[in-house]
This record gives sequence, C-alpha cells and structure tokens, in this order.
Amino acid sequence: MVRRIGLLTGGGDCSGLNAAIRAVVRRAEQEGVDVFGFRNGWKGVLEQEAEALDLRATRGLLHRGGTALGTSRVSPFYEPDGVRRVQEAMEVHRLDGLVVIGGEGTLSASLRLHEEAGVPLVGIPKTIDNDVAGTDLSIGFLTAVRVASEAADRLHSTAESHDRVQVLEVMGRHAGWIATYAGLAGGADAILIPEVPFDIDAVARHLRHRAGTGRDFSVVVVAEGAQPVPGTLELPEPPTDEFGRPRLGGLGHTVAHALEARTGFESRVTILGHVQRGGTPTPVDRIIASQMGVGAIDAVLEADWGMMLGVDGPRTLRVPLADATRELKRVPEALYRVSEVFFG
Ligand code: F6P
Repeated sequence: MVRRIGLLTGGGDCSGLNAAIRAVVRRAEQEGVDVFGFRNGWKGVLEQEAEALDLRATRGLLHRGGTALGTSRVSPFYEPDGVRRVQEAMEVHRLDGLVVIGGEGTLSASLRLHEEAGVPLVGIPKTIDNDVAGTDLSIGFLTAVRVASEAADRLHSTAESHDRVQVLEVMGRHAGWIATYAGLAGGADAILIPEVPFDIDAVARHLRHRAGTGRDFSVVVVAEGAQPVPGTLELPEPPTDEFGRPRLGGLGHTVAHALEARTGFESRVTILGHVQRGGTPTPVDRIIASQMGVGAIDAVLEADWGMMLGVDGPRTLRVPLADATRELKRVPEALYRVSEVFFG
C-alpha cells in the first residue's frame, strides 16, 4: 500500500506548475498519502532536500506562476552515482514512489530510472513547447500561447501604423507549436517553425507581394528553433548552456536582417523569451494541471508505475511513459497548412 510519495518539478519552469503541485497534494491528502516535495528537481533528490507538503503549504498556489518547489535541469544520469543517490533518497524518506512533473528531458530520465533501476514513479507533462507526445496539451503551453498571441496583436497595430515588418520570435526548440498557435490566432503573414525548413527568399517575395497588393506591413512569427533550407541562410553558432544544450534565442534578428536586405522594408524584432514561461496561468492550464495532478495520485494508489498523465479534450489519460517519450510531438503538416491559408 502506498503511504508516502515524493514530488518534484524538473526542467524549465512554466505557468501552471503550482496548480499541479496543489492538485497532487490535495488528492494525496484525501487518500491519506503523505507528500514530500523535493527542491529544484532531481538536484533536490540527489541532495535529499525535501519538505513535507500539506494542504496549508499549497494554499493560494493555484493562480501563481513558477514552481513553489523550484526546478533545475540536473539529471541523475549526468551526476556521479546519480541513480544510487535517487534510490537512497527514497529509502531515507521511506517513499513508496515519486510523482515527477517535467518536460521531455525530465520524463525521459524518469523512464530510464523506472526501467533500469525499478524506481516506482508517475509523470506529469509540462512544457510551453507542447512537444511531449501522449497528450494534447502539456501544462504551460496555453499560457505561453496567450502571451505570444497578445504580442502578435500588439505588433500588428504598430506594424500597420509604420508600414514595417515586425518579426516576433517565440520559444519552440524542436517544435513550432507556440509559433503556429500564436501565429494563427494573431493573423501572422508568415510563420517559421522547426518542422518546415524556410526559404528566406520565398518569405521576402511573399512580403513584397503583400506590399504590391496594398499591404505595406507584415507580421512574421519565428520559432527560436526554426531552420532555413540548407544553404539558403547562414545562422550564427549558438552558445551552449551549462548542460551543453544550445542556448537558443536570436534567430529573429537574423531573419529580420535578411528580410530587410532583400525587400528594403524596415524590419524590427521582438524576442519574447521567458515572458512566455512566467506569470498567471490561463484557466485551461490550471484545469489540465488539476486533472493531471489528481490523475497522478489515482495512478499512484493503483501502483500503476511507469505511466504519464495526459489530456484528450476533457478526458484525463494515462499512457506509458515509454510511448510518451519515444518521439517528440511535432506540429502536424495539416495544421501548418491551415495557418498558410492566412499568410495573405
Ligand atoms: O524547453 C522549454 C524552453 O522553453 C525552450 O523553448 C527554450 O529553448 C528553453 O526552454 C530555454 O530554457 P532556459 O533559458 O531556461 O534554459
């Protein structure tokens, strides 16, 4: 019987994590399960930094951005003796299992811990990039879309006033979900995403065509991970972060510069960056976080380990972590084709 579990949030933060923490703790308390929250993702597990979480500790969290537990990109597989230290932390705190809230990296590490070391755990997907498979939505995505589409709206009016090209760069490392959703919602005239290599000359021709038909302004939404057709545009080599991951951000400048050079239209850039990850979660982010938090404890009570929660419309799903992490969920071509209809 499950009596005590550990809870952690790993990887980049996003809005809605606190709603998920609250849901896990509420549902667990209802069922008489104690929850220990680890600080800063796997780092807190490795360093055994945990605190008991109860109803009182999670009051007032629902609408707050960030994560009350803190987070990091530390992985047990890249730390000395990492797997053994996870097992040791579980023994010391007498934990029967873990609930891990994370994106693709954190969930893949969770799967390995489960499969290779038998760690009993359940995952909850969060990432503004929305690229985790097995669920329609990941926590944080819709809040990021709200921020990005509002930015597109605001850029629209100023682009029109000044007859300028406004390039809006949004996050989206391997998948262009934010760019496609915000671009569609914000009436973008071009959307560049990692799934569809772009030809900068074709984009420039398109903007010139718009101008030729009386539309002297354009809004171009660019995902930070978009890639040009090989050989068409040189991109600077990105620096790497402390975990060796390319630190993206800045493609918007290259695109704006190239468009201005090819069209002569004055082009400006807005890089939204971490604004997309912070602040108040949208109602739907709070709702799916609550669904998945409750669903995670239901899975824990059944000792259904190695699973990840998800949503399909209003339904809460439980899918094997192995299926959810096999490959990234990318923007389907058909959806991108819909957005192209409005490139105008
Ligand atoms: O993985 C989610 C994400 O938001 C990416 O889109 C982005 O490239 C990355 O996080 C940035 O993370 P950080 O600057 O926090 O390392």
